[in-house]
Amino acid sequence: MKKILFLVFFVLLGAALVLEYKRLTIKPWPATHFDDVVEHFKYGSIGAEVDGFPYDIWRELPTLFAEEIPQGYAGFGFVSEEGHDLPIGVSVRRIGVDRVGFNCATCHVSTYQVDGAETLVLGAPNNKLDIQAYIRFLVSTTKDPRLTADAVIASAQDNGRALGWFDRMVLRAVVFPRLETEVSGLEDGLAWMDSRPDHGPGRTDAGNFWRERWGLEPAGDMRVGVVDFPSVWNQRIRLDGWFHWDGNNRSLEERNFSAALAGGASEWLLERHAIQRVSDWLMDFPPPDYPLPLDAARVTQGRAIYERAGCHTCHDTGSASLGQVTSADILGTDRQRTDLFDAEMVSYFSTVGEKYSWQFRNYRATDGYANMPLDGIWMRAPYLHNGSVPTLADLLSPPDDRPRTFFRGCTLFDPEKVGFTCDAGFEVDTSLTGNGNGGHLWGTDLPADDKALLLDYLRSL
Ligand code: HEC
Ligand code: HEC
Repeated sequence: MKKILFLVFFVLLGAALVLEYKRLTIKPWPATHFDDVVEHFKYGSIGAEVDGFPYDIWRELPTLFAEEIPQGYAGFGFVSEEGHDLPIGVSVRRIGVDRVGFNCATCHVSTYQVDGAETLVLGAPNNKLDIQAYIRFLVSTTKDPRLTADAVIASAQDNGRALGWFDRMVLRAVVFPRLETEVSGLEDGLAWMDSRPDHGPGRTDAGNFWRERWGLEPAGDMRVGVVDFPSVWNQRIRLDGWFHWDGNNRSLEERNFSAALAGGASEWLLERHAIQRVSDWLMDFPPPDYPLPLDAARVTQGRAIYERAGCHTCHDTGSASLGQVTSADILGTDRQRTDLFDAEMVSYFSTVGEKYSWQFRNYRATDGYANMPLDGIWMRAPYLHNGSVPTLADLLSPPDDRPRTFFRGCTLFDPEKVGFTCDAGFEVDTSLTGNGNGGHLWGTDLPADDKALLLDYLRSL
């Protein structure tokens, strides 16, 4: 009798292990899905967990490395809401083990501070989020001798979320032995960053991430593709034009998929329906209203100056040039981003998705930057494609009078100059490659009174 029981036990155990192995290795668990599209935008999955950091370790890092990140992940600029374990923009999914991934809200949700109150704005560029610092932190902690399976297990226990025996075993036998290899791959892939100016919060260099992925060895040169996160509300008014700062694509689907891929999704696990749903919702999601009172008469006067200065020809909905590209020769803004996206990049981009039904076919190289609508522009600071000008008042000043250095990464709203100003944080040096703050001279020679009126109009958009 005992023998039979033993046999049954071992057969069941064997079956359980085989099933668990299959679950771990073959089929990712369903992506986190929310019926409410806003919740999905904030917390749902776009398929970016595939190479994500193991969640069981990730959530103990703020405890284990409290000295390095005293504010936890908020210190990297992730935005959190009361009552949620995960920050906005982070989703978890089991792919082998539970892994964390980004979604559209990671980079496209932010906050502003007026009169001490912090307000959440969906669709706004997360100008506090320092992805580069976050990735560097993950890489360095992984190599830190203090990070062990035992430490993670103990920390989880102390934090009241003790891991079950199976998860502990997987952590010891599978996750930790592979972690260093996984992360050293990531580290090699990021070596190109070290020779370039840091991105700092609110910016990223997606171009060079792609070049690295394609083996174009960005570490061998100094080309920079750093860009400011854009706003993503009100997409409908952008449909007739070209997308991305340099206007390199006009296919909505390709824009969405490339955004997801740049956020960490992989071609085989792209959550196409979820992405489509978010994209549909963004079509008519409105920009935020200016948070302080505005003088309607001054706004009207400002509009007249805006037209006199010719701003409307490029920036207004209904204008034929909206969404078209203005050459960098005319603009005079930093050329790095547009030059980086050249014919070679186009040819590589055209192979993305070739094994799937959605291959990229609409990329092109341009010689400048697209004329974009200025909706909610007060919430889109710092300005220009590389985020090199901190406020609207500075953008309306001649380049020599614009700040040579300034701090990025705060949410304190400056109603006078219109932007986010702070005296600490990440310092942008506009003399470094890719950070140039020159060009876009329209409006810079207006008399001071006219500039003040024009600013009132821009506040109202
Ligand atoms: C890692 C940060 C990050 C994530 C995640 C991300 N984006 Fe973006 N997004 C950017 C950056 C940076 C750009 C500007 C790229 C450029 O023009 O070079 C951009 C551009 C865009 C644009 C174009 C705006 C314009 O004016 O042309 C839209 C729309 C957009 N993203 C939507 C999305 C959606 C939808 C998702 C989720 C599927 C997403 N993004 C995920 C950083 C991100
Ligand atoms: C010939 C077309 C053109 C005209 C005219 C023009 N702009 Fe622009 N504007 C652009 C382009 C293109 C960019 C993006 C340049 C870059 O990022 O390098 C831009 C950027 C901006 C930005 C920053 C947008 C952001 O998200 O960072 C603001 C604000 C702006 N323009 C306001 C104005 C105002 C105000 C006027 C008139 C005084 C004006 N523009 C005239 C084409 C134009």
